[in-house]
Parts: sequence; C-alpha cells; structure tokens
Amino acid sequence: METWDAIRSRRNVRQYADRPIPDAALEQILEAGRRTPSARNWQPWDFVVVTDRDQLARLSKVWQGARHVAASAATIALVGPEDPAQREAALYDLGQATMSIMLAAADLGIGSGHASVADHDLAREILGLPADRRCFYLIALGWPADGPLRPLRQPDRRPLAEVVHHGRW
Ligand SMILES: Cc1cc2nc3c(=O)[nH]c(=O)nc-3n(C[C@H](O)[C@H](O)[C@H](O)COP(=O)(O)O)c2cc1C
Repeated sequence: METWDAIRSRRNVRQYADRPIPDAALEQILEAGRRTPSARNWQPWDFVVVTDRDQLARLSKVWQGARHVAASAATIALVGPEDPAQREAALYDLGQATMSIMLAAADLGIGSGHASVADHDLAREILGLPADRRCFYLIALGWPADGPLRPLRQPDRRPLAEVVHHGRW
C-alpha cells in the first residue's frame, strides 16, 4: 500500500477475523516500531508480543476498554520506564512508536486497536515485567472482521481549517 493510502486507511479495528498474522508480517510491524525516532535516540521502549490465546484473554482484563485484545491475532504491549521523571518524554516516543506500528500494520492490510492500561500490576504480572518497567499501552492486531482497510473518505475529525493555524493562532 502507498504511505498515503495506509495513513487514510488506518482506523481503530476492534473485531478480528480468526486468522493468524504471518511471522514475517509481525516482524515487519515490530521492525517499524524499532525504527521509531526518539529523544536523543534513547529508545525507551520494549515490545512484548503476545499471541497465546489464554494470555491474550488475561491481558484483555487490564482495562475495561481492552476487551478487544482477547480476540486479537497478536497484541503488542508497549513497555517503557516506570520512573515518573522519565515518563513524559517516554510517552511522546511511545506515541510515535504506536503510529509507526499502526501504519506498518495498515500497509499490510492488518487492523490495529489501541488499549490503555489501568491495572499496571496485573499487566506486569501477565507480561513478566521487571519492577522498573511499565506497560503503558497495548496495540491489538488482526485482520479486520468488518471488511478490508480502505482509505476513509470522511474521517471523524475536526476540519483542517479549524485545526491548522498559519503563522499565528
Ligand atoms: C492514547 C490512546 C488510548 C486509547 N485507548 C483505547 C482503549 O483503551 N480502548 C479502545 O477501544 N480504544 C482506545 N483508543 C482508540 C481511540 O478511541 C481511537 O483511536 C479514536 O477514537 C479515533 O478513531 P480511529 O482510530 O478509528 O481513527 C485509544 C487511542 C489513543 C490514542
């Protein structure tokens, strides 16, 4: 897919077909995450990839909005520093990694859906994280059950003229 088409086709996908993601595709998506830029190139992320059905079901309990994780073909847990002093900078970079991962997935026709994490202790236990790491977000992946990704004509967004300011506010 062209980059512009991938950007326009990505949407939050929460329902997935019962079809695995090939290893090569998953690796390409993770490689996109690895290539993400970060402040001083500190690369504050680790990615924990979960494909085991029982583990996915448990992971879907870390936040009420994470239920779609249970039926995903794979979920990538975005892990960063637990230290509050490092979090603000890390969150920007994790956001960038999220978008790289999601666009790489869209490029392959694979849907993705964010999930926040509320129960950090549960996520730590399920993912086996060390004490100085925290799972900030989950990205569920899978082939869209509601039809293939196609460029959205009318995305649910504020108009460009309202969002963009030229020169001054
Ligand atoms: C930081 C962040 C957290 C999100 N958390 C959740 C979540 O916990 N559960 C969920 O279903 N969607 C979650 N989303 C997805 C957004 O609701 C979704 O991206 C937004 O409504 C725009 O829709 P679109 O992705 O289809 O363009 C999250 C998105 C972001 C950026």
